[in-house]
Amino acid sequence: MPLLIKNGQITTATDQFVGDILCEGETIAAIGPDLAAPADAEVVDATGKYVFPGFIDPHVHIYLPFMGTHSKDDYDSGSRAALVGGTTTLIEMCCPSRQDEPLEAFELWLSQASGKSACDYSFHMGVSRFDAGVEAQLRTIVDRGIASFKVFLAYKGAFGIDDNELYHTLRLAKELGVIVTAHCENAELVAETQAKLIAAGKTGPEWHEKSRPACVEAEGVHHLCTFAEMLGTHVYIVHTSNADAIQAAIAARRRGVQVWIETVAPYLVLDASHAEQPNFEGAKYVMSPPLRPLPHQDAIWNALADRTISTIATDHAPFDFHGQKEMGRDDFTKIPNGIPSIEDRINLAYTYGVKRGRIDLQTFVDACSTQAAKIFGLYPRKGTIAVGSDADLVVYDPDYRSTISQRTQLMNVDYSAFEGWEIEGRPSVVTVRGKIQVRDGKFVGKLGHGLLLQRKPGHL
Ligand code: URP
Ligand code: ZN
Ligand code: ZN
Repeated sequence: MPLLIKNGQITTATDQFVGDILCEGETIAAIGPDLAAPADAEVVDATGKYVFPGFIDPHVHIYLPFMGTHSKDDYDSGSRAALVGGTTTLIEMCCPSRQDEPLEAFELWLSQASGKSACDYSFHMGVSRFDAGVEAQLRTIVDRGIASFKVFLAYKGAFGIDDNELYHTLRLAKELGVIVTAHCENAELVAETQAKLIAAGKTGPEWHEKSRPACVEAEGVHHLCTFAEMLGTHVYIVHTSNADAIQAAIAARRRGVQVWIETVAPYLVLDASHAEQPNFEGAKYVMSPPLRPLPHQDAIWNALADRTISTIATDHAPFDFHGQKEMGRDDFTKIPNGIPSIEDRINLAYTYGVKRGRIDLQTFVDACSTQAAKIFGLYPRKGTIAVGSDADLVVYDPDYRSTISQRTQLMNVDYSAFEGWEIEGRPSVVTVRGKIQVRDGKFVGKLGHGLLLQRKPGHL
C-alpha cells in the first residue's frame, strides 16, 4: 500500500522545508508540496512534526560473547528497541575470537539477524587474527556485501591483534577498498595498569577510567593512524571518548590520513563520575574506552558541532547489572564492558544536543544518519530523503515529553543508564522501506522485515 506522509518539516543533513513524501513500494516516489494521495494510500499527518531520514547506528553489538558472558539482546529485542528509538539500520560488529574461522563467524552472526531483524542491517567484519587462511575468507566476506573490517587494539588475549596482524589487515583493506574501523586503546598499557591497580587493592568500578586514561586512547589513535599513513588505508575510529584522542586524529588528518571519527551516545551525556557511584552502582557505567571527566564532554560536543566528529553511534553492548556486571564486584577488570543505548541514542542527541543548542538539526541528522551512510557505502539508498532512496523515515514529535526508564524500555537489560532522564521528543512513526514499523511510538511492525544490506567497497 502506498504511504503519503503529509505536511512534515522534512529535515535532512542539508535541507529543511515543509512538504509531503509519497512512498511507493520500498522507496520514495515523490517529494513536494500538496502531493495527491493515491486512492489506496495510507496518509500520515505529520503537521508540526519533523520528518527525518531513518537513523543509522553504525556501531552496535547484538550478539556478543565477551568477558565470560553473552550480551543480553537478540534481534527480536534489539531491532524493536532500535526502531522505537528511530534507528532503521544497524551495523553490527561481527566479533570472532582468535580461534574462530571468519567465515563461520560471519555465518553465525548473520544467522542471528536473518529472518528475525525488524530493521535493516549489515556488519563490520572483525579481524582478530591474520594469516593466509583468514585473508582468503575475508575476501569472500567482502564479496558477500561487507565493505568494512573491525580491529581491536585493546582486549589483549581476546579480540586484540598484534602489529603484524594490523599491518596485513590494513594492507588487504587498502587493496580491496575496504574501510577499517578500530577500537583504539593500547592493550599493553591497559593490562599493566589494571594489574597494578588491582594489586594495590583498587578494585572498584571507579578505577576503570584510571586503568585506561585518555592518553592510552590517544596513543591507540596515533598508532592506528601511523599504520594507515604508511599503507594509505581508510580508517574509522570507533567510540572516541576524549579531547586527546580527537587531537590525535586531527593531527593524522593534517598528515593526509583518511580518518573518520565516531563518538557514542554515552559520552555525550555521561561522565566519569557516574562510574564512581557507591554500592557498585558505578558498574552500570563501565564501558571501554571509559566515561571521561566532564571537560571531555564539551570537547566532544564542539567536535560534533564543527563536524570534526562524523558520527554518533551507540556501541550498544547490553549486560545486566545483576548476574553480569556483578561478575566484577571484587575486580573491576571483570565487569562486562558496555552501556546499552540503542533505544535512547536519538532522543538523547535531540534533547541534550539540539534542544540544548549544542548542535543544530542538520548536524544531528548528519551525525546520526547521513555520515554513516556515506562512510559505509549505503548512500544515497540510506541516509537521506530523496526520490529513489529507501523509504526509511522517522516522523519525530518534538512536543512529546517523557522520561527514560528500564520499566518501559524494549532493550532486554535490567537497568537503564539514563533512568529518570527527561526526553523532549520521540519518534512517533517509523518506516523501513515503506512499511510502518512504529506507530504512536509503539512497535507495530514485523520481525523478519529487515534485510542484510549489500555494500560495495571502494565507495570513498
Ligand atoms: O565497552 C564496550 N565498548 N563494550 C563493547 C565492546 C567494544 O569495545 O566495543
Ligand atoms: Zn570497542
Ligand atoms: Zn563496540
